[in-house]
This record gives sequence, C-alpha cells and structure tokens, in this order.
Amino acid sequence: MTEQWSRRRVLAVGSALGAATAGGVALSGAMANHPATTGNQLRSGVPLPKPYTVPLPIPPVLKPTSTAGGTDRYEISQHRVSAEILPGVRTTLWTYHGSFPGPTIEGRRGRPVTIRHRNELPVPTVVHLHGGHTPAASDGYPTDLVLPKGWPDPAAEHGDHHGDHHSGGHGGGQDGHQMSDSRAVTSKLTREYTFPHDQRATMLWYHDHRMDFTAPAIWRGLAGMHLIRDDIEDALDLPRGERELPLMIADRAFAADGSLDYPSLDPDLLSRPGVEGRYAAGVLGDVILVNGAPWPVHEVDAARYRLRLLNASNARHYELEALTDDGRLLHLHQIGADQGLLSRPVTHTRLPLAPAERYDVIVDFANVRPGTRVRLLNRLGSGRTREVMAFRVARRARKDDGRIPAKLADDLPAWRRSQATEVREFAFKSGRMQHGRGWLIGGRAFDPARTDVRTRLGTVELWRLVADVHHPVHLHLVGFKVLSRGRGGPLPHDAGLKDTISLRPGESAEILTRFDGYRGRYLFHCHNAEHEDMGMMANLEIT
Ligand code: C2O
Ligand code: CU
Ligand code: CU
Repeated sequence: MTEQWSRRRVLAVGSALGAATAGGVALSGAMANHPATTGNQLRSGVPLPKPYTVPLPIPPVLKPTSTAGGTDRYEISQHRVSAEILPGVRTTLWTYHGSFPGPTIEGRRGRPVTIRHRNELPVPTVVHLHGGHTPAASDGYPTDLVLPKGWPDPAAEHGDHHGDHHSGGHGGGQDGHQMSDSRAVTSKLTREYTFPHDQRATMLWYHDHRMDFTAPAIWRGLAGMHLIRDDIEDALDLPRGERELPLMIADRAFAADGSLDYPSLDPDLLSRPGVEGRYAAGVLGDVILVNGAPWPVHEVDAARYRLRLLNASNARHYELEALTDDGRLLHLHQIGADQGLLSRPVTHTRLPLAPAERYDVIVDFANVRPGTRVRLLNRLGSGRTREVMAFRVARRARKDDGRIPAKLADDLPAWRRSQATEVREFAFKSGRMQHGRGWLIGGRAFDPARTDVRTRLGTVELWRLVADVHHPVHLHLVGFKVLSRGRGGPLPHDAGLKDTISLRPGESAEILTRFDGYRGRYLFHCHNAEHEDMGMMANLEIT
C-alpha cells in the first residue's frame, strides 16, 4: 500500500508541478503577483455575506466519557455533516464529532488523556496533535490509519511487499530495499491516541495527517483545538472564562452548489493525490472563517481579552492588526507562542501568523467607546480577504480582573547554541523529482521508507533552514528556539518556544532544540498543506 501510495504521489506531483512550471510559468512568477503569500486563490461561486454580520461561534469543549484512573478519556467520531456556514447555503463538511472546528479538548499538564477516534468518513484518516509531546505510536504518522468500516485492511494486504519510493511508476519494488516492520502501514477501525500532556500549558490543535491527502482533509473540516493548562498559567490571573477566546482562522472557498471548493485531482481523495497545477504552490480561499464562521462579529466588554490565535489555513499567511472604528491600532500584547507562555510579554501592532502557528495575545478594549467596533484585519489580504473578524464593544466593564503581568513563565528551556552537538542544514525548495517538479527538503521528496534524520534521545541540535518561497516549517515532538534569521537576530514574534517557524522567500533561519521525551519515528515538514502533500516532508528518527 505504501509502495502504491508513493508511486501515485510521485506521479501526481509530477503532473501538478509540471503544469505549474511548464512554459516558464515558474513558481516565482506566481510570487511576483502575490509577494505577500505563496499560493493561488479560488473564487467562490455563491454570494458571500457582509462582513461582521454572523456571530462568532465558540467550539464546544468536549466532555470526557470517563475520568477514572487519573486519565481523561474521550471518544470522537469522524463523520460528514451538512452545515450552514454561509447564511442560506448548505455545505457538506468532514468533521470531528459533527462540528467544524471540531470540539475543543481541554486538559491539564501532567494529566494524560486518551482519545478514541472512530472513522465514519469515506476514506482512511490519521489524527495528529500538532505541538503535542506525544509518544510515536500516537503521533499520527501518515500511514498509521484509522479505517472506515468495510475498508480493506492495507496492513493485511501489505504482507512482505517491498516499499520503494524510487521505483515509482515502474511497478514492482523488487529493486528496492525492504521496509522495516516499524515502517509498515498500520490500520485499525478505531484508534486510541494517548497524549501524556507532559508539556507546558499552551494551545495545540489536532488535524488530519493522512499520507498524500492531508491538505484536502483539513480543508473539508478535520481540525480542532486542544488546550493544556497548568498551575503556572493559573497563577497569572490572565483574562479567563468569557474573556478568553480560542480563534481558529482559516480561509475556504465555496462552489456554486455550496460545497467547499478545492482543486483536488481526485475529488474522492482515493487514488490520485495533488491539486491542479496552478494551485501547486498553495490553495487560498476567498472567504475568511473564524471558528467556522465567515467574517464573524463578537460582542465584548470594554476590558482585556485573551485571544488564542491559530492559523489553520492550508497556505494563507496573515499579518493581523486590531483597528478601532476611529482609526486607532490597539496593541497586541503577545504572552505566548506555539509552545506556551513567554518569559515576558512582547508588544506588537502587527502580528504575522503563518499556517499552523499559534499566538497567545491580550487585547485591551478598555479605551474603546461602547457601541463601536474593533476590526481584526489581515494586512496581507486584499479586498474581502483583508477583513478577518470584528469585536463590538457592547458595554463598559464592571470589573476587569485580567492582567498583563510583566513576568510570565520561568520554565522555558535554557538551551544554548554552544550545547548543540549536531548541526544540520535543510533547504526547502521546489525542485525536480522523478516525474516532474515537486516540493523538496534537501533535494528529496518524502519517502516513508527512508530515515532522513537519525538522532539520539537528549541531543541538542542546531538546524539551519533555508527557503525559496514561503515555507512554514514544523517539527513534530519538540519545541525549538529561533536563534537567528538571515544575518540578524530573531524577530520580535519569534520569542518563546515555537514548533513552527515561518520562513519567508529567500530567508534562512537557525533553530535550536533538544530531542527529548520519546524514541521513535517522527516527522518534520512544511505546513503549507499543499507542499506537505506534494513531497515537502521528512522522517526524523529518535533512537
Ligand atoms: Cu500540524 Cu505534521 O503537523
Ligand atoms: Cu505536528
Ligand atoms: Cu512549503
């Protein structure tokens, strides 16, 4: 099965990128038109609502089915629903438990959770907890499938076939190396994922990670938020309850019949992966959803709010600012990054947000006149995609307990550059593959049968990353520090512990991490979901 997948993927990337780059329509040509972002925008075929008319939904927090034995247990069924995202329009979604975003999981540091997923969708799925410090067996490796009922078991079929990526298209795999057992496809009708929550308080997110088809599965709705809390955070008196808002920002496009539009080569997501050539650099939508609602509006008190921002878009980048109706920019007080609280706040007026990144931000609405709005705008968008959501300040606050403490967390890792015993370099670039062009790491396309990085548990490593176009680079399992960008130091929003770094066109960066916690097979990849599906992923093995 893996072998077939690899072959299909190579072919599809070949055709997708081959078309995009044929006749001199190079990827850099698309960049010239849209320097702010990498990708191509779809246009919806249905009338779109006026911004700031639909209320902001807050995804429900899922209740555990059991809390016995020190573990919170959850069950999630993955199934299709028909929902009204655009007013008056029915859209079929693929959901976690019937909603998009999926239900929010909320847990405590040090208290493990298990989540049993059942797949009632038409294709196999894989669940990954992004940013999770997770044992390999629960990390959602792209071939660790949850199968729909009645689906033939690929693990059984797999037998002792050889998995060889390089034999793509020529059949057989006889000339290839044999896959080790640990790399075989595994599949189950339900799968129980265990998350020890042995990590700092932060907002993670869970999403599909199936080999070759992650981008369209997320686009159809397979994404949800997952919060971990701890005592350090509790002691800070940050805005909470109704004054803490998880915000999943994602762009989508809608076809004339109301369905989600996406340029898949195989609309059934069964055999041929990839997208139409002109979207090979990334799929952008013309509708901005926050928590699944188009350009929503949310009523707030004139008080401090904590915004837990997540960019769950496949390829769209944002540069957010909060603009009052009377033309003032409110400060965005960043208190946390992908992997939890900073040591002290960093104040921004604009905050870049790349796919998969999260920012924990406090905005103070205290000096906004009741009855007026604060719009969250994307400076990288144009026309309707400049608008994101609005807060309508409804009333003066009776009291405002939430503070912006000058000191936040003191449990950040103290790794130093000099501790790195391994230095590696990876170029994230488009390039030639066997059957055309693809998205490559270090000149190679993803092959589940190849180990790209092998390291020992506990090793501190320095990685130098370099990009041709925008590539948000993500490492599974670990958080990292950003040491530098180009010849300079990190940018203000690089503060704290990250799990995704946004590389801009032509940019290089150095990151420092320590591979801690669990042994096994993990991944690193570009989180432009189209790039990820079209080769830009690599294996990381911790021994
Ligand atoms: Cu957000 Cu490999 O994933
Ligand atoms: Cu991840
Ligand atoms: Cu990329």
